[in-house]
Amino acid sequence: MSTSAKTRFITFEGIDGCGKSTQARLLMDKLNEEGCKAILVREPGGTRVSEAVREILLTKDMDELQGRTEALLMTASRAQLTDEVILPNLDKGNWVIADRYADSTLAYQGGGRQLDVEWLIKLNLFATDELTPDMTIFVDVVPEEGKRRRESNNPDRIEKAGVDFQQNVRKMYQEIAKRFPERIIVVDGHEAIEKIQRTIWQEITRRYFL
Ligand code: ADP
Ligand code: TYD
Repeated sequence: MSTSAKTRFITFEGIDGCGKSTQARLLMDKLNEEGCKAILVREPGGTRVSEAVREILLTKDMDELQGRTEALLMTASRAQLTDEVILPNLDKGNWVIADRYADSTLAYQGGGRQLDVEWLIKLNLFATDELTPDMTIFVDVVPEEGKRRRESNNPDRIEKAGVDFQQNVRKMYQEIAKRFPERIIVVDGHEAIEKIQRTIWQEITRRYFL
């Protein structure tokens, strides 16, 4: 299924600790304040099935998990979330704000785990039933900053992979931002939270409200 001109599906992407969850939440609150019904989802997870899959994916000692298995589980979680939550909300005319979606698989399993990106694009199309975000905000920071921001957190299996892994993930995000320039907006995640929020809101206003 492809999105119609009326859908309002916005995704946030970036390496771990870049600040995208903060911005996704702020955008949802702002939309609701403006009287637009908006929901926030996160990946992997967001449904009963997807949260069960998340448990497998992020459990720290699941070291034997293969790259292809990881890609299939990420996209399985996405298929369930898409059918159960995202599509029904878009059909009702609601805004859907997603903290990660299909680009995360290209960046982490493609850039990070070095799986073939063209295969992953096809896998995503199958998992999402060809739903594509209307707009994607890539919050870009250097891996050292992402690491610093989540220093106090207990790292999960993927966060444990280290700075070089995050560097490859970031490079792939930058490549896909170049490949899909109409859809993906790159924002400098090193700026202050409020400044990034204003930049995102200006872009939303330009695209949807002017
Ligand atoms: P992510 O979802 O990308 O992992 P979060 O939004 O959870 O990141 O932010 C990680 C941490 O960094 C939080 O403590 C958050 O308050 C802080 N943070 C988020 N954005 C910024 C920013 N622009 N500048 C400084 N700290 C930030
Ligand atoms: P999470 O705790 O939700 O981290 P974050 O706040 O950074 O989003 O963990 C999700 C982890 O899963 C994160 O390291 C990114 C990774 N991931 C993939 O590797 N592939 C994917 O397709 C998705 C959605 C996430």
